[in-house]
Amino acid sequence: MNFIRYKLFNRRIISQYYYNFLDYIYFKSPETQKLIKKGFYIFEDLFPVEILDLKKYIDYKNFDFAADRKRISLTDLKTIYYKLNSLGVFKVVKEYLGKDLLTYDNTILTLGTKKSKDGSWQPHHDSKGRRLKIYIWLSNKNLNTHPLFYKKGSHRNIINWKKYEDTRFKYEEDFEKIYGNLGNIVMFDTHGIHSSHKENIVPRSVIELTIESKGFLKRINNTNLKDETIKLGCIELDKLID
Ligand SMILES: [Fe+2]
Repeated sequence: MNFIRYKLFNRRIISQYYYNFLDYIYFKSPETQKLIKKGFYIFEDLFPVEILDLKKYIDYKNFDFAADRKRISLTDLKTIYYKLNSLGVFKVVKEYLGKDLLTYDNTILTLGTKKSKDGSWQPHHDSKGRRLKIYIWLSNKNLNTHPLFYKKGSHRNIINWKKYEDTRFKYEEDFEKIYGNLGNIVMFDTHGIHSSHKENIVPRSVIELTIESKGFLKRINNTNLKDETIKLGCIELDKLID
């Protein structure tokens, strides 16, 4: 009985079916179609990183860590979102996630010189349902850095998961390895299988932005919107790009 209840009334599961249906019936731009098919998309346009003063985020005395994050100030966040909007990034985001969007976990992520196999350094999906992360590369392309690992198409195949172990996977040979170049804008659905053991020790940094939609069938809905907003520090996307 619990099994049936879980299947029929779990919003995260229903929303996966709902999204797949919407992807099927509505016209989407070629960029969004690629995102739908693969689970990630790399924009042709580069982000002009020189419009930001990034020193305070990426200058470290030493890189003696696997990963470190620095929260982005609201002023810089507005500059970033405004520019991304003018490059047409949110047109794709809205076609993929819907129009009622929240953003949170906006940080500069730097990978350091330590290796790791723990937690998020294992292939996994984020168990949040359909959700996008945007990475803007702040380092030059270097095949000795840790790439973004992504299993193409896996975001469409995962419908069921109950516990943490269900969200962890083994490394597979066919993972895409995405090595961004300075200013590259990479978008990926965190519902697909991503990440892998950090074996590379050359530092690199990205701007990392998280975007999720809210609504009746979504993980974030009227019943938990207040709590999630406080917990995650959500900002409405439209307020950042006005
Ligand atoms: Fe993740």
